[in-house]
Amino acid sequence: MTYKILSIFALSFIWLSGFAQQQDSSINIIPAPVKLIKHQGSLSLKNIKVSVNGFVKSPTQLVTFAEGVVNSKPNKSNSTAKVGQKLALILDKKIKLPEEGYQLSVSKSGIAIKANTEKGLFYGLQTLSQLVALGSTQDIPYLEIEDYPRYAYRGALLDVGRYMFPVAFIKNYIDLLAKYKLNTFHWHLTEDQGWRIEIKKYPKLTSVGSYRDQTLIGHLRKAPLLFDETRYGGFYTQEEVKDVVAYATAKYITVIPEIEMPGHSLGALTAYPELGCGHNPGPYKVAQKWGVFEDIYCAGKDNTFNFIQDVLDEVMTLFPSKYIHIGGDESPKAKWKTCEFCQKRIKDEKLKDEHELQSYFIQRIEKYLNKKGRQIIGWDEILEGGLAPNATVMSWRGTKGGIAAAQQNHKVIMSPYSHLYLDYTPSKSKEEPITIGGYHPIEKIYAYDPTPKELDASQHKYIWGVQGNVWTEYMSTPEKVLYMTLPKLFALSEIAWTPLVKKNWKDFSENRLPHHLEDLDRKGTIYRVPEPIGAKDTTIVSNQYTLNYKSPVKGAKIYYTINGYTPYEMDNLYSKPLTINIPVGEERVVKSVVITPAGRRSVVVTTLLKNK
Ligand code: ACM
Ligand code: ZN
Repeated sequence: MTYKILSIFALSFIWLSGFAQQQDSSINIIPAPVKLIKHQGSLSLKNIKVSVNGFVKSPTQLVTFAEGVVNSKPNKSNSTAKVGQKLALILDKKIKLPEEGYQLSVSKSGIAIKANTEKGLFYGLQTLSQLVALGSTQDIPYLEIEDYPRYAYRGALLDVGRYMFPVAFIKNYIDLLAKYKLNTFHWHLTEDQGWRIEIKKYPKLTSVGSYRDQTLIGHLRKAPLLFDETRYGGFYTQEEVKDVVAYATAKYITVIPEIEMPGHSLGALTAYPELGCGHNPGPYKVAQKWGVFEDIYCAGKDNTFNFIQDVLDEVMTLFPSKYIHIGGDESPKAKWKTCEFCQKRIKDEKLKDEHELQSYFIQRIEKYLNKKGRQIIGWDEILEGGLAPNATVMSWRGTKGGIAAAQQNHKVIMSPYSHLYLDYTPSKSKEEPITIGGYHPIEKIYAYDPTPKELDASQHKYIWGVQGNVWTEYMSTPEKVLYMTLPKLFALSEIAWTPLVKKNWKDFSENRLPHHLEDLDRKGTIYRVPEPIGAKDTTIVSNQYTLNYKSPVKGAKIYYTINGYTPYEMDNLYSKPLTINIPVGEERVVKSVVITPAGRRSVVVTTLLKNK
């Protein structure tokens, strides 16, 4: 056989195994792994014993997780399993795998997960846990997986400034990230609407700065603005913060705290007004509505820097992460322009303008943190007036900032609002709950490629990773956070982890996602139920139209009406493609909805059919 013929054979094998992966309902991994080969046969989960080899520092933790995974399904398998089959966790520094990678094999002789780090073993277990929980049978197929991430930084932000959530929910959020192989929790802790972290040296930050007298109840852009006339607030104690960080660490998640400066600081200014501009600054008020506020820290007073450094000293004792996020976004310069202290600073430091003053501010803090062995991350506004020498840029206003920073050889995290703000409206339906606005269906997140085409190949390495952000202006409950985040977070996970060549929207949304949503549904978790796959929110001019739907959640049903009324469980149950005839001069209004086994509903999709 010539080499050419051999390659054709090999290629068709790869193609077939790829095809098998897409069609096989027993393999539904998100994020899709780098390499997967499925073999004939499957392994029963009966009598699996977990063993750990190598130099695992936290064996109990991994074994407990592994035992939970293999025992998570009541075993009704008919296949005979030998007693003593193993799930072997093998840590070997010599295994050649990219960082955070793992190999997973399931065969007649049992299950083996190999990695050169404990984190790799953990990710291998996450994959195994999906094979067990989401498979269509009690057994798991024989297979081999080799897997590692596309990006080293895979993050999700949670804003607790606008609304805060109980520690138990923060842990749930961390669980979700870990399960989907994200590795960084960006905790947005200080805001105009409330300071949320206990700082022992400045008790008024929490006794005063954490509370607002009332909160906007409608949308900021919809007059008249109405308020709830109810005091709101709270904060995380240092003990709670330590607890969260320890919890995240055990799940191989780094927690990066964000302490905002010089803007978004009304919480701190209300507590310590002397940190504002001018001779007699304040009084300030913790913000009661959303937006960008002109009152920011004074850059002319050394006291501002002493205060921030003291705060950061305590923050550094709580968060071991190498990176501290210092904000830097949305800092109007109006107050600096008229402040004697700020103008003197501009003169003394020979700065050109207030943008250079912001750069001075950030660089001064960077220097302080670098001396303590830490690095800063800032939003892309920190490019204005000159980037601090070692700063990492988080590009949110689009991709331009990220591109510019990468071209200056700085590390970049891509988080453009256009694609990765998970708080934006998921559909155009009027049934969606109140959100900040925009239009961000999950497809848009999935389609995003974090490495910009504008960069040449030598600059790609500066794209450190990608992050989804959950801003909570319009989310006052953990349940709303879940509705907005799920399933968008799964799409984020796949763009952060899976190589571009393995991304496939149809396979993700029609084959794998329905299993993950069924799992959420079964567990009683709140999530946004997607619309029926194939349902079109549009007007169609024709004498005939065929409804051709698929359920976005395994086990869910689709109901429809053709008379314009809202469909419920007592209406038509969709079971197979169905042609609707529209008489000349008439209209039919088709409305379709998904209802899941747990009783959750999608928004209703309306398709207007017209025959002129
Ligand atoms: C931001 O959304 N202001 C970072
Ligand atoms: Zn000032």
